Amino acid sequence: MTDILLEPYALNDTLTLKNRILMAPLTRCMADDQLVPTDAMVEYYAKRAEAGLIISEATIIRPDAQGYPNTPGLFTAQQIAGWKKVTQAVHNNGGKIFAQLWHVGRVAHPHFFDGEVLAPSAIGIEGSVPRMRELTYQVPKAATQEDIKQLVADYAKAAENAIEAGFDGVEIHGANGYLIDQFLHYSANQRTDEYGQTPENMSRFALEVVDATVNRIGADRVGLRLSPGAYFNMEGDSRDRNVFDYLLKALEQRDLAYLHVGIFDDSMTFDYLDGHASDYIRKHYQGHLVGVGSYTAQTGAEAIAQDRFDLLAIGRPFIANPDYVSKIKQNQAVTEYDEAMLATLD
Ligand code: FNR
Repeated sequence: MTDILLEPYALNDTLTLKNRILMAPLTRCMADDQLVPTDAMVEYYAKRAEAGLIISEATIIRPDAQGYPNTPGLFTAQQIAGWKKVTQAVHNNGGKIFAQLWHVGRVAHPHFFDGEVLAPSAIGIEGSVPRMRELTYQVPKAATQEDIKQLVADYAKAAENAIEAGFDGVEIHGANGYLIDQFLHYSANQRTDEYGQTPENMSRFALEVVDATVNRIGADRVGLRLSPGAYFNMEGDSRDRNVFDYLLKALEQRDLAYLHVGIFDDSMTFDYLDGHASDYIRKHYQGHLVGVGSYTAQTGAEAIAQDRFDLLAIGRPFIANPDYVSKIKQNQAVTEYDEAMLATLD
């Protein structure tokens, strides 16, 4: 039943994955205080190299991209050197790994850096940094066009750094209510310049980041994660649908390695998408699609067999089972994930 997950899968001429199981990006907040990956992180990723592709935990592209403690970066020589150890260990074990490039936008907190919180518009979110409840979110500064140019350049630079660190490619984090996603939803983007108001304008930042990254490291090595369904730090708006209709068509011309659905539970439905986020993307985008969100190997294999997506990303079960792929191969029961497992990096 799950055999389809264990088949090799060619993303393009550059990258063939040894199976269709991806390790989903999972923030663990365990980098050191310079945001450098530690030896424990080297072990953690190396143990999971049986995945067809590991997507690293979200990794910030510059200091003001940070919204959580001890999330790793890709903008200093030490961070690049730390990641080199991770990518070498994964490669030594026969695996492949992409870096997930991250800027949290209005979910940032100046506790972590000197400077202002940047977002498309000066619209804040309620709440505070998880596990640091005294740090309440602030109203961001609306990015100027100059700020936007610099952000685009910094994504491309981080992609270049990722390749220098030995990553096989990058996944641009355009999902889950963070910076790129903030441009794509009306509730967070109320700009009146060429980055706001219309689907074409609201897609502009995402496409500029994609194009700059592709120009730097090649489309074969670039994936993108998107959340057409707003579900985290974001209010949905029925007009968002038009933005994603436009964006997905434009992305089809970019020949990226893959698109990846950003969602915690893909059984969720969205009125304005006429159903599941994954089905909506599948319908509007012809390239390789990674499904995710509360799937088991069985339900994920079924979805692939039904052609709902091509590859399956596994998140929490990969925290609970470093040997997830072996267990699936050998038809063994997997250990149940528990939030308490986040306390250690095993
Ligand atoms: C996540 N998720 C996530 N997503 C992302 O794009 N970048 C990230 O860094 C993280 N970090 C993260 C940490 C933790 C502890 C969890 C539980 C989740 C979302 C993740 O990639 C995935 O979409 C969800 O976990 C749903 O898949 P599973 O866990 O049901 O297989």
